[in-house]
This record gives sequence, C-alpha cells and structure tokens, in this order.
Amino acid sequence: MKGHVCEPLGNQHDRTQFDCGVSVLNDYLAKYAKQDVKRKAAAVFVVLKREEPKRVIGFYTLCATSVALSDLPEEVTRRLPRYPEIPAILAGRLARDVDYPGVGSLLLSDAITRCVRVAIEIAASLIVVDSKGEAATHFYEKFGFISLPKLPDRMFLPMQTAEKL
Ligand SMILES: CC(C)(COP(=O)(O)OP(=O)(O)OC[C@H]1O[C@@H](n2cnc3c(N)ncnc32)[C@H](O)[C@@H]1OP(=O)(O)O)[C@@H](O)C(=O)NCCC(=O)NCCS
Repeated sequence: MKGHVCEPLGNQHDRTQFDCGVSVLNDYLAKYAKQDVKRKAAAVFVVLKREEPKRVIGFYTLCATSVALSDLPEEVTRRLPRYPEIPAILAGRLARDVDYPGVGSLLLSDAITRCVRVAIEIAASLIVVDSKGEAATHFYEKFGFISLPKLPDRMFLPMQTAEKL
C-alpha cells in the first residue's frame, strides 16, 4: 500500500467527492455507510492517498455471513466440514473512484489480508463477494474468486487459498 492508507471509515473522511460510476455504491458511501458502522451491520474501510489523507478514493465493507454447503461445488466441499452452513466473511461492496484506476486491486488485497487476519480469531472458511456485473466478475476472477454454480453473481475464495496469496 505504498502511497496509500487503508483505515476504518471515520468522521475525518471526506466522502462527498467520491464517484465510482455506480450510483448505488456512491449513495451507500454518502448516506448509509456510517449508519451501518454504528449499527454493526458492516465494517467500512476506506482508502486514501497519503498526500491527501481525507479524501476517500475507494472503500469496501466486511460483515459476517454464511454459505449453504449445498451451494458450493463438490471439489470445494470435500475439503470442508459437513455443516449445513459454512461460516464466511462477506466483502459486500468494493469500489474505487473513477479517477483512480488501479486502486481496486489495493482494496481487494487489503480486504483479503484483513479477512485472513480476522479468521484467526473468528473462524470463517470462505471470503464471499457479490460481483454485480461482468466487469466485476473478471476483476474478482483475477484474484482467484469462483462463482457459486447456483448463484453466479456471488463468488467465493476459500480462506486456505487466501492465506497463500
Ligand atoms: C471493479 C473495480 C473495483 C476494479 O478496480 P480497478 O482499479 O479498475 O482494478 P485494477 O486496475 O486494480 O485491476 C486489477 C486486475 O483486474 C483486472 N480488471 C479490472 N477491471 C476489469 C474488467 N472490467 N474486466 C477485466 N479485467 C478487469 C485488471 O486488468 C487487473 O488485472 P492485471 O493486474 O492483470 O492487469 C472498479 O472498476 C470499480 O470500482 N467499479 C465500480 C464498482 C464495482 O463494480 N464494484 C464491484 C462490485 S461491488
């Protein structure tokens, strides 16, 4: 993260200029992110440039979730316990400002690192993302995420794979 900082969303951050080109994600950051943090519905992390440490240029959210064992491909379930629901961490929203190409991979690397760290204390077998479109699917595939056969927009990365990244 040379030149960038990733930290939890706080009052000091300027979210007003953020534009990722997707209005639902812009609105989420502007209007709902802080409420989610307050109500413990999601943890929100923002990326800033070191020389401009207030302006948000990217963000992502993390929260606990689970995936039905029956929704996962067999080659993955073979390596998982036979519980009906598999514990997971959802990186629910991830976006970078249109003026900062390349920040997407910084965001996702930070999210994956954080998930691996957190899973040492609160176990989760998978990291899950919602891809919202073909471009995002390609982006997540670059990092090894795999679409759920029955829910192609929902993708996952086994935590054991994330640990090796
Ligand atoms: C998806 C998004 C985060 C990608 O950010 P980015 O800064 O363009 O990503 P990067 O440049 O770091 O790309 C990382 C890799 O993914 C690839 N990639 C990024 N966008 C891609 C696309 N549309 N199609 C194919 N590959 C893509 C890049 O080529 C790069 O691979 P490389 O390292 O081999 O060159 C960004 O476009 C965005 O914020 N979009 C709007 C919000 C959104 O759709 N979020 C995802 C769902 S919530």
